[in-house]
Amino acid sequence: MKKFFNELLGKGDYRFMRRRALVVLMTALILVVLTGCQQEYKMSILDTAGTVAEVQKSLIWLSIYIMSFVVTVVTVILIYVLIRYRRKPGDDTPPKQVEGSTLLEVVWVLVPIILLAILAVPTVTTTFSLEKVQAGDNILNVKVTGAQFWWQFEYPDYGIVTAQELHIPTGTKVNLELETRDVLHSFWIPRLSGKTDLISGRTNFMWLEATEPGTYIGKCAELCGDGHGVMDFLVVAQEPADFEQWVANMKNPQTEPTSALSEQGQQVFAQSCASCHAVAGTDFAGTAGPDLTGFGNRQKVAGFWDQTDENMAKWIKDPASMKPGSLMPAVPLADEEIEALVAYLKDLK
Ligand code: CUA
Repeated sequence: MKKFFNELLGKGDYRFMRRRALVVLMTALILVVLTGCQQEYKMSILDTAGTVAEVQKSLIWLSIYIMSFVVTVVTVILIYVLIRYRRKPGDDTPPKQVEGSTLLEVVWVLVPIILLAILAVPTVTTTFSLEKVQAGDNILNVKVTGAQFWWQFEYPDYGIVTAQELHIPTGTKVNLELETRDVLHSFWIPRLSGKTDLISGRTNFMWLEATEPGTYIGKCAELCGDGHGVMDFLVVAQEPADFEQWVANMKNPQTEPTSALSEQGQQVFAQSCASCHAVAGTDFAGTAGPDLTGFGNRQKVAGFWDQTDENMAKWIKDPASMKPGSLMPAVPLADEEIEALVAYLKDLK
């Protein structure tokens, strides 16, 4: 026992001991600090909140069961053979030479075929059914467009456009038509459904359905440039009545400045922002950047940062410092103009 501890602590070598103590201390510190990391939104694919995610989770479990079965059987046979046929002391007889066994050959070809078939049939049928456009009365169609580094959501049935925050009614199948403006992106809402790529010059389809109201985090899951890591979006699943309310508001949004400061901001917007951003119900109709209708009701700035005055001002002042590679230019504005602009943006409700 004493020898063991001496080895562990490095007997007599104090520099080594100090270094080891430092490593232990750092590890403990990292653990303590990391326990403070709490995600704002859960994003485990096993913590499902929708029909599609549920189906995909059962496929994941099916493959885990099959793999666990194979690993267990192989491990048990391996351990048995290692113990049963090990070379015993004093026994120098050479092992019996066996060659070929029809029965064994058939078994280890057939068993994997059966296991792969059990896995393949539901995987293939599910893959096709999840891509199929859903039909019926209770359906919502949304056109999703990915761009470096933001998301546009268009509701053709309602004539509304929004960005960064996808609103959907619960208990409704949502057909998504996915396209990209530039490079490859991948649309992923871990708790609602798996990923679908957005491919240049091609339209992809998927559908999803949220079973419970809530806010779910969405991610771009395809490395698409400098800002890929912050190309997030939110999915707000609402009771159908609340969703209708949101639609009605987006069709007839509040766009009038409610203060002198905001009115000044409206002028700044007209001069510096309107060529790229649209606001329904106004003359602002730029399409290069995200539609800002109802921006004041959104939870995030640029889809990622909490919507506070500071974050809004910081974003307008220098977008690239927050989202590297962002196509939004840093418009040269005085601090007072930015303050006014923030006031106006908050009035867009
Ligand atoms: Cu878009 Cu990564």
